[in-house]
Amino acid sequence: MKDAEQNYFVILFVKEIEIKLLTPSQVPAVLALDRVCLGGLWTEEGYLREIESDKSTLIALFMVDSEFNEQMQMIGMACLWSIVEEAHITLLGIHPDHRQQGLGQLLLLSLFKDAIARQLERATLEVNEHNLAAINLYQKYGFQIAGSRRNYYQPAGDEALVLWLKGIQQETFKSNLIQWRQHLSDRLSKNSYHLKQTKFC
Ligand SMILES: CC(C)(COP(=O)(O)OP(=O)(O)OC[C@H]1O[C@@H](n2cnc3c(N)ncnc32)[C@H](O)[C@@H]1OP(=O)(O)O)[C@@H](O)C(=O)NCCC(=O)NCCS
Repeated sequence: MKDAEQNYFVILFVKEIEIKLLTPSQVPAVLALDRVCLGGLWTEEGYLREIESDKSTLIALFMVDSEFNEQMQMIGMACLWSIVEEAHITLLGIHPDHRQQGLGQLLLLSLFKDAIARQLERATLEVNEHNLAAINLYQKYGFQIAGSRRNYYQPAGDEALVLWLKGIQQETFKSNLIQWRQHLSDRLSKNSYHLKQTKFC
């Protein structure tokens, strides 16, 4: 009886998560998330442009938390621009209530998967010199600092670090990606997340 009760408890609090392409009807939700995560980086027109462009992959992370209600909530977003052989990571954010549980990595790995499918060779991005959480995240997956841009973020005048990751079509990177993904899947399960399989993860 005790085991049955414990199983019931675990099932009750599973959080179903899913990564999907953003659609136009979800733009109000992503704008709200953008304000919380990034202080309002992109406009409505900016999101709609990315959704329409075949050079961009704009994904969102959704969660259904059975503890509270069955409504689907957007808790993360990420975007990649494909330019020649380069994947420019232009957006990555996780709602503050859901950070440090592996979800930022999940979106980053999804962008890697998309970059590989698009036959891109390298990935790059800019990050605020003071954004240690993001810098750690990118360096964990092999990004290296290649330069910086002064006075990039206003009004504070913070520097942007320019990060690059090479060799994303190499077999070693592809097999690492499978391992990272498996490791992350185990971590998410321990945090009571259940990831629905889609083409992005
Ligand atoms: C950056 C961000 C997306 C990370 O999301 P997250 O879900 O918390 O990240 P994860 O839990 O997957 O952590 C990934 C790694 O990032 C690093 N990291 C995350 N939060 C950190 C923190 N507060 N301090 C130091 N390192 C941190 C760690 O290396 C971590 O790996 P580990 O858990 O194995 O130690 C999130 O903090 C965020 O949305 N920030 C605001 C938006 C932003 O700055 N986006 C990036 C713009 S370039």
